[in-house]
Amino acid sequence: MARYSAAFVWAALAYFTVGILMGAAMAVDPALVGRLRVAHVHVNLLGWVSMFIYGVAYHVLPRFTGQPLHSPRLADLHVVLANVGLVGLAVGFAVWGAGPVVAFFGVVEAVSGLLFVYNVAGTLLAASRRSGSAVLQPGRVAAERASAGAVR
Ligand code: HEM
Ligand code: HEM
Repeated sequence: MARYSAAFVWAALAYFTVGILMGAAMAVDPALVGRLRVAHVHVNLLGWVSMFIYGVAYHVLPRFTGQPLHSPRLADLHVVLANVGLVGLAVGFAVWGAGPVVAFFGVVEAVSGLLFVYNVAGTLLAASRRSGSAVLQPGRVAAERASAGAVR
């Protein structure tokens, strides 16, 4: 597994742990809901759900399509920006609520998400240019590679 995929899966497990603990804290003491709810939402949805998807998608999509990831360097940058953005966003939500800190780290997080869109779209488009409409049809790509004598 590439470094960026492993980093995202490990980060997702860490955010899931933190998200569960925040949820449990709010469940036990509802007075914390006002302060923690929005941070909990984003730690779970951007940290656990999105980062798990990033890690698995970066691993699986190049293999499904037989097309190397468009830019591994941008995927490394995505790891850094997504994590810096999310930690800043979550701390900003919990400490100050929506405001300049949330705005700054929210933009960092948004840029990181767009890097993922660009990188995955570039990979899928390159795969479809190479093999007609075979994107996301692993059986067909594998058959084409076998008939072309390609060695994986
Ligand atoms: C042990 C795990 C979890 C516990 C104990 C927990 C608990 C809570 C609590 C107490 C609230 C505040 C409810 C309120 O406003 O009164 C909340 C809100 C929320 N949680 Fe969790 N949560 C957990 C996991 C998750 C996960 C895994 C996700 C998403 C993947 C999630 C998504 C949300 C969302 C979206 C809200 C906000 C709902 C709204 O805006 O009203 N939670 N959670
Ligand atoms: C760049 C990424 C994101 C930024 C900057 C962002 C920012 C925000 C902001 C400023 C709010 C309003 C918070 C408040 O009421 O004070 C919000 C609410 C919310 N966002 Fe996000 N968000 C992002 C991504 C996401 C994603 C990907 C999801 C879901 C998969 C999500 C789910 C939610 C939900 C459920 C709420 C309502 C929370 C509640 O009031 O309980 N957000 N977000």
